Amino acid sequence: MREEATARVVTPLADPIESAEELTLRPRRLSEFVGQPELKDHLGIVLEAARRRGQPSDHVLLAGPPGLGKTSMAGIIANEMGASLRITSGPALVRAGDLAAILTNLAEGDVLFVDEIHRLGRAVEEVLYPAMEDFQLDIVLGKGPSARTIRLDLPHFTLVGATTRTGLITGPLRDRFGFTARLDYYSHVDLEAIIMRSAAILTVPIEADGAAEIARRSRGTPRIGNRLLKRVRDFAEVRGDGQVTRAVAEEGLRLFGVDDLGLDKVDRAILETVCSKFGGGPVGRSTLAVSVGEQPETVEEVYEPFLLQLGLLMRTPKGRVATPAAWRHLGLSAPAAAAAAPALFLPEG
Ligand SMILES: Nc1ncnc2c1ncn2[C@@H]1O[C@H](COP(=O)(O)OP(=O)(O)OP(=O)(O)O)[C@@H](O)[C@H]1O
Ligand SMILES: [Mg+2]
Repeated sequence: MREEATARVVTPLADPIESAEELTLRPRRLSEFVGQPELKDHLGIVLEAARRRGQPSDHVLLAGPPGLGKTSMAGIIANEMGASLRITSGPALVRAGDLAAILTNLAEGDVLFVDEIHRLGRAVEEVLYPAMEDFQLDIVLGKGPSARTIRLDLPHFTLVGATTRTGLITGPLRDRFGFTARLDYYSHVDLEAIIMRSAAILTVPIEADGAAEIARRSRGTPRIGNRLLKRVRDFAEVRGDGQVTRAVAEEGLRLFGVDDLGLDKVDRAILETVCSKFGGGPVGRSTLAVSVGEQPETVEEVYEPFLLQLGLLMRTPKGRVATPAAWRHLGLSAPAAAAAAPALFLPEG
């Protein structure tokens, strides 16, 4: 059980070949990490200061939607500090003992990456508090009245936590991070640079226009950009001469069901459900999820943030509501009530 918890590495892609490719596409140094200038700047200072003091860096919390580079950033922190990286995740740490086993195996300066840290159980989280704050581990020996606690000193390590849901992190845990970094969706320009970089690594011949077209439809997300690049590469190799031009990118993406705004089938199904089946909403989260055949959490964490950001969907206390822009995007005419509502750009949450 303990071994399992230590060994579990979270891979977001099911396909082993794509996972291996994703590893090679990961930036390894801060200088290779494209975009997020403010975050890179701040983190650069935190790490440089720690290096100069000859100490491990403060604990870092990385927050943001999936695929924006949290796992990559954890690796970068370890590389920049010349430290080794240990990877685990909230759901893998079932019992307090699972975490204790990992902590006692750390070496001085190690970076411990806990993915999905908002999914840590209560008992496990309580082990983490003294470990983060005082580098100490409380171990309870025995049971009942004869039980006693011993404190173990832990090596000074850096905890890097990643979460897609900052709101679910308890106050005491959040407070123990010295630095919280929020990753935002990437601009088209940054995504184009990421796609050009990935194309170079994968040796895909690509024109800047082709990269720009893929970037425009990547939903602000590097992982999606990389995935679309690979599908367009396939298309270019099978139906063309392998060269990714704008026309090839456009045609390839259309073939794979990615529309002009970068919405895929599930995104459009969500909008169609709200507009056509429920007259524009409000629709509750679970009703919406069942209608499109996804888990409520997936709809909320993976699909909705981008639709909210584009101003296509609104979250209201009664449920999800389509904006006039959503009706327009689907080529439908909005009922009078929806057309009168202003298009709002609501923050996630
Ligand atoms: N700033 C960046 N520059 C270059 N490539 C990036 C950048 N950010 C992410 N990527 C690419 O996107 C892919 C996904 O990034 P990563 O796995 O780090 O995201 P994540 O935030 O951990 O996602 P999840 O929340 O799903 O675990 C990486 O393989 C990497 O190639
Ligand atoms: Mg990750």
